[in-house]
Amino acid sequence: MKILVVGSGGREHALCWAIRRSPLCRELLCAPGNAGIADLATLVPIAAEEVDALVDYAKAQAVDFVVIGPEAPLVLGLADKLAAAGIKAFGPSAAAAELEGSKGFMKDILAKYGVPTAAYGRFTDAEAAKAFIRAKGAPIVVKTDGLAAGKGVVVAMTVDEALAAVDMMMGDKVFGAAGDELVVEEFLAGEEASFFAIVDGETALPLAAAQDHKRVGDGDTGPNTGGMGAYSPAPVVTAEIAAKVMEHCILPTVRGMAAEGRPYKGVLFAGLMIEDGEPKLLEYNVRFGDPECQVLMARLDTDIVELMLAACDGRLSGRTVSWKPDPALVVVMAARGYPGSYAKGTVIDGLDQAGAVPGVTVLHAGTRRDAEGRVVANGGRVLGVTAVGATVAEAQARAYQAVDRIRWPEGFCRRDIGWRALG
Ligand code: AMP
Ligand code: GLY
Repeated sequence: MKILVVGSGGREHALCWAIRRSPLCRELLCAPGNAGIADLATLVPIAAEEVDALVDYAKAQAVDFVVIGPEAPLVLGLADKLAAAGIKAFGPSAAAAELEGSKGFMKDILAKYGVPTAAYGRFTDAEAAKAFIRAKGAPIVVKTDGLAAGKGVVVAMTVDEALAAVDMMMGDKVFGAAGDELVVEEFLAGEEASFFAIVDGETALPLAAAQDHKRVGDGDTGPNTGGMGAYSPAPVVTAEIAAKVMEHCILPTVRGMAAEGRPYKGVLFAGLMIEDGEPKLLEYNVRFGDPECQVLMARLDTDIVELMLAACDGRLSGRTVSWKPDPALVVVMAARGYPGSYAKGTVIDGLDQAGAVPGVTVLHAGTRRDAEGRVVANGGRVLGVTAVGATVAEAQARAYQAVDRIRWPEGFCRRDIGWRALG
């Protein structure tokens, strides 16, 4: 098959890496991709959000199968438009992608179908949101309804902080139209984990769990980021908890979405909060996590193309997914200043030496080649140094050995990725 992957991050490099292993893949394209992906796929200079241009391209090039990485094109209806053009695509329809595109919609689905989650209110009026906050007290969580690149969430420890968040999101419109509506919800304590399932509209198969490190600094300090590192499996998600997540969260949601006339197909990413052995659903994402995808693809032992095609065609029932026994861990290297402002274009050396460490694959997240052919930084999160090992400790040691071979003075990483699994 001629396969097109849409996106340019570490997740898409990991997907290309896994797709390349499939005997079903004859030719691989990636739009727009990055410098690392260029070693596996032909880069197509179309941005992930240019959905009409992507559909035209896929038609003109007779692409057989499109794998959509990020949420933005899914919410914009890329999967629907490809389907209308007769092209198979992996990823939910726009109607189903509302699970990530609108937190209010997601919460209403959870409430209607009995999925355990934080109590909440939806607001289009700032004064009503503030009255709710004053009535409930702190800690409390304020979220934009729409997509805000992972930044539209304020976990407020005081009422004043929560009121200020309402002004920032709804008054100052810091996240634009995403803040036209807010969700205000109960604060949940516990340990977070990411759980992934693959869904064909009716049947959901559990994939695996992973744990991300959202804060920028060691010891989980500093501002939130897109994710500074991850590992899989996540010991906090025991077999018993995974079974509860399938039974109480994933399956009711899949049945509910079908009943709503929005059948869900693709990867369903459940952001969980686990306390005393009980998982609650923080949020859904309609795609693989980044950097969680990097460790899942390092462990996956099933042909991903075959699996994704089965999801598209409603043929998941009765299938199983197999995983390599060894754990995987990814350390994200970011440009200094991230998640605030940072420089682009700084030169990165030592990638080949890093990739020569046993068990290590250096996945690119935000890179490009400059005019002289050098790999340069082209984003906030720039590399995902991914390692497998017999234990999490070995995977971690290998990943940091590789990190230390990378010569990039303008970059940084956390030094404690995996700490919860090693404690
Ligand atoms: P979200 O984008 O909804 O995953 O929120 C981003 C982060 O905010 C999550 O990863 C959690 O760390 C935190 N968070 C979101 N909702 C809650 C909640 N109800 N209680 C506690 N923390 C939360
Ligand atoms: N790593 C979290 C996310 O992809 O949203």
